[in-house]
Amino acid sequence: MDIDDKIKRAAEWIKNSRHTTVFTGAGISVESGIPPFRGKGGIWNKYDPNLLELRFFRAHPEKSWSIIKEIIYDFFGQAEPNDAHKGIAELEKMGYVKAVITQNVDHLHQDAGSKTVYEFHGTSRTLSCMICGSQYDARRISYQVMPPRCSGCMGILKPDFIFFGEGIPKEASMLSFYEAQIADLFLVIGTTGEVMPACQVPLQAKDNGARIIEINLEPSNFTPWVTDIFLQGKATEIMNRLVEEVKENK
Ligand code: APR
Repeated sequence: MDIDDKIKRAAEWIKNSRHTTVFTGAGISVESGIPPFRGKGGIWNKYDPNLLELRFFRAHPEKSWSIIKEIIYDFFGQAEPNDAHKGIAELEKMGYVKAVITQNVDHLHQDAGSKTVYEFHGTSRTLSCMICGSQYDARRISYQVMPPRCSGCMGILKPDFIFFGEGIPKEASMLSFYEAQIADLFLVIGTTGEVMPACQVPLQAKDNGARIIEINLEPSNFTPWVTDIFLQGKATEIMNRLVEEVKENK
């Protein structure tokens, strides 16, 4: 079956599904200028992920903050949602997509207009003081003096995304695995499917009888044995065609 037939079939599945859930990874934001973690241009090819390990951050906050500033806050707020984020928001508005589960911390789904978004790895949009817990809007912090500190108690601020070795936000985890129970269709976009426990969400959906449509530049861990329709290509291009196809025979 060629890509055109696959897109037609995927659009049929979306139109006939009772409950479609979207599951995204870093690949969906690459065309917004945010590098992925693995593969070509991946962040972990350049930086040591141990710098973002929770114990390391607690022991050497200034070292951790040097990479956090470079990979996130140096170009913070410059990334815009792309056609893939917007296409998902449009499918939600049309009543097809019921929720987005994202591993990304860039807030681009919300910026594109998606209303129901579960941030499985937290968000970079806010930071919390490690001593008093005060929360700050990331857009209102100066990153000139490192590490950034709480204006109330001078405690070091930690971004509200999860570090390696840190627990998944409880509500996002509970709601995401609930989606895996009730969805009859998962649209998995731009993820290697390598990181636990996030990668278990599409697996559980599959075990519960959901069908899986995957969009990715390359095959992922899901492709050989979880994915039912693999749409190989850039997320923006594939999503544009998919949304057009859904609209055409609405
Ligand atoms: N369109 C579609 N897919 C793309 C594109 C694109 N333009 N560019 C890259 N990809 C795909 C890659 O083929 C790869 O499968 O996106 C995926 C990116 O993989 P990762 O960088 O591993 O991202 P992700 O799977 O989200 O990583 C999961 O790892 O380091 C942790 O917390 C971090 O949330 C992240 C988690």
